[in-house]
Amino acid sequence: MSLGIGIIGAGIMGADHARTVARHLPGAHLAAISDLDAARANKAAMESGARKVLGDPFAVVADPSVDAVIVASPDATHAALVLACLQAGKPVLCEKPLAATVEECLAIVAAEAKLGKTLVQVGFMRRFDPAYVEMKATLDGGTLGAAVLLHCVHRNVSPAYAFEPFMAIANSAVHEIDIARWLLGSDYVRAIVTRSRKARPADPILLTLETASGALVSIEVFINAGYGYDVRGELVCEQGTVTLAPGLGNAIRHARTDSFGFAADWRPRFAEAYRLELQSWVRGIGGGQYEGASAWDGYVATEVAIACVRALDTGAPVEIQLAERPA
Ligand SMILES: NC(=O)c1ccc[n+]([C@@H]2O[C@H](COP(=O)([O-])OP(=O)(O)OC[C@H]3O[C@@H](n4cnc5c(N)ncnc54)[C@H](O)[C@@H]3O)[C@@H](O)[C@H]2O)c1
Repeated sequence: MSLGIGIIGAGIMGADHARTVARHLPGAHLAAISDLDAARANKAAMESGARKVLGDPFAVVADPSVDAVIVASPDATHAALVLACLQAGKPVLCEKPLAATVEECLAIVAAEAKLGKTLVQVGFMRRFDPAYVEMKATLDGGTLGAAVLLHCVHRNVSPAYAFEPFMAIANSAVHEIDIARWLLGSDYVRAIVTRSRKARPADPILLTLETASGALVSIEVFINAGYGYDVRGELVCEQGTVTLAPGLGNAIRHARTDSFGFAADWRPRFAEAYRLELQSWVRGIGGGQYEGASAWDGYVATEVAIACVRALDTGAPVEIQLAERPA
């Protein structure tokens, strides 16, 4: 039987997920899509063959033809929608961040724990990106020794949502916060965050995180870099390094120049990761076991991001204390 997927939010990510459902998920179909902007919902529905367009996002959750939900609306809407999915007993893939506040994340973690079964996956798709997966496999293989440092760079052409440090950290750098924790297999204990004192609102921010295992993670997040979407990573171990391949596609040599391209946003760089993420999620719904980030992982990422915002605001290192994880 084909799985009926409902998508809430038909913007950049919702429309992208709708195309992935239509083209790359043979065991599923797009049962319904919703957006506050009806024209956007209709356009995505036309492109992807959605069977229904609904105005009210909560009607997607309640609709009997919807077996599972993708939440791709703005961050501030996530918590209420994910909680509604849990109440309806429906699996939900919620785009990152799980929720905009620590309190909302913990309410989701508690509601899922009370149900006693896993229904939430968070859209940290880098965990499915072949380059990061290979980096982790190399580290776990042991030939390079223990990880001591992970350097990360996250640059956007222009701010996707707002010119403010809070969104640069809680919406963009949250990807690195999650992927570094996943790669290194260790929680964070301390955050130090700085930016130029002359900074314009969207100038680079530097985050330094220390893990319980004793490794360091450095993250440059620059959401106004102009030239292209650029994500880099170099894992430094005791006896070697692993570096993510740069840019997109092939290198071109011409007119005494060696060059490679950058996309305007994240979709081309992570297209395969989004596809593998949704395919894994659908398998997980069938088997009840998910490979992607859990509600707890979503909570940790937001808790650490908010600690980093505090470290930036106060100019002082912040000790990271996680809540108690429900049994
Ligand atoms: N995983 C990733 O790599 C990645 C990349 C970009 C964005 N995101 C996340 O995806 C989410 C959406 O981002 P986007 O870039 O697609 O934003 P967007 O602004 O392009 O799209 C959001 C859409 O949601 C609609 N909307 C707003 N409130 C709604 C509501 N209550 N119910 C239904 N629809 C509503 C808007 O009209 C808009 O069309 C955000 O949470 C963002 O953090 C994830």
